[in-house]
Amino acid sequence: MSVSHVRLPSDPVLYEVYVRSFSDSNGDGVGDIRGITSSLGYLEDLGIDGIWLTPIFESPQLDFGYDVSDYYKIHSEYGTQADIEELIYEAHKRDIAVVLDIILGHTSIEHSWFRGQPDWYIWSTSIPNNWLSVFGGSAWAHDEVGGLYYYHRFYKEQPNLNWNNADVRATLHQVLQFWIDKGVDGFRLDSLDGLVVDPELRNEPPCSLAMLEGRENDTWAEFWSLDHIYTSNLPRAVEELSIITNIFSGTSFFVEADLPTEKLKAYMATGASAYAFDFMRAPLNGNTLAKIVDGAGMDGSLAWALSNHDQPRLVSRWGRALAGVAATLLLSLPGCSFIYQGDEIGMVDGAGGPIVFDRSGRDSVRHPMQWTATGGFTTGVPWLPMSDPDRCNVSDQLGRPGSMLETYRALIRMRRSLSGIVEVIYSDDNRLAFRRGNATVDLNLGEAPVDICGSGKVVFATDPRQRSGVLSGRSAVILDLPGCC
Ligand code: NOJ
Repeated sequence: MSVSHVRLPSDPVLYEVYVRSFSDSNGDGVGDIRGITSSLGYLEDLGIDGIWLTPIFESPQLDFGYDVSDYYKIHSEYGTQADIEELIYEAHKRDIAVVLDIILGHTSIEHSWFRGQPDWYIWSTSIPNNWLSVFGGSAWAHDEVGGLYYYHRFYKEQPNLNWNNADVRATLHQVLQFWIDKGVDGFRLDSLDGLVVDPELRNEPPCSLAMLEGRENDTWAEFWSLDHIYTSNLPRAVEELSIITNIFSGTSFFVEADLPTEKLKAYMATGASAYAFDFMRAPLNGNTLAKIVDGAGMDGSLAWALSNHDQPRLVSRWGRALAGVAATLLLSLPGCSFIYQGDEIGMVDGAGGPIVFDRSGRDSVRHPMQWTATGGFTTGVPWLPMSDPDRCNVSDQLGRPGSMLETYRALIRMRRSLSGIVEVIYSDDNRLAFRRGNATVDLNLGEAPVDICGSGKVVFATDPRQRSGVLSGRSAVILDLPGCC
């Protein structure tokens, strides 16, 4: 098979495939690469430009692939090299770009490098400081073999690589090249803000109350109690990104850096798109949303998302009644918009299963994709139980006017006609209206009908009964003229 690449358009829509839970081709209850290939027709019809695959590399799966034990091999439950080559080939035939999730900052403790190249990791003879792991407790673990302590930003089975070591940098660059040569079009760079840490291993100060805003009820509240000035967002993280975007200039990069959006500008200045977490933490309030989106598009490409495999789902947070309004917001913004699999049919968080797989409690947001009323994800026993396929599934919604799925399809088509930055024209607690070039997006979060901000023609409406002039409660419209309020 000859290798080609797909260039993402500006303002692309990417679809997050949580590989383990998307589509199982061999009945073992675990989603796999061939399952994704056989679902490409669905994704093409949805209208997306690319797929982001959560990690597919060989891994003991203690953090479901974010603990890599070999960057050159495919995890056996997900398939083979031939399977990924076929997926890339078939996706490219449909003009769908393939974006891999790559973890540059840490490996699995089972990676051969951990014992074979110990100086590629970060060690100390005792616990040197107060650094915390995102998942709780000290970020230092004792290695019984050598008697030293190693730094791990995430689980203790995920030791951090030392990016001050030139061999580490060169080796990870080679990994990127290997996958680009296979036809991969882009990478989601996992936890990039934590790539480089303070070589002096200094203590971090406590964080201020203002910095905690929006994170008070976060699963990882303990981690956020410190101001991560020595383990996150060091200037070197951006420098390393800049080197990468320069070397691999034809490739798209999506940076995951869990930072306030203001701080993402430096990452976007390298040409990468940066993942914005704002909607996942924001209360459902028009004024708050207005602050988040005003001016969007001015400083580079943010990658917007309403849900992902780490955070509660959109419908569970904001409610079913507002799912269409939220989708209108997501898909009318400049930059990249990520759809987490299942959000396009309005899936909610599940209850997890009898076995707890993720020690950090994320099973509930990772239930299998609901293709049909009986599931349609696997012919076997799904690794996590299906949630509520009888209430919400692809086959019931496909072609049904007004369904969530058709709303997403219409919005993705509509997106192609939008351009320009976001200029907020009105907001209050229950309302947000903004212009993008010659169009107006008007979102009514409240129950009461309101007058539409502008007199343009309604070119998209979440409510099929939408009358011009008045916007029904909990609905959204897009107008073909710049409006005012
Ligand atoms: C962010 C990923 O989204 C999450 O699932 C993972 O646990 C951490 N990074 C560690 O790689």
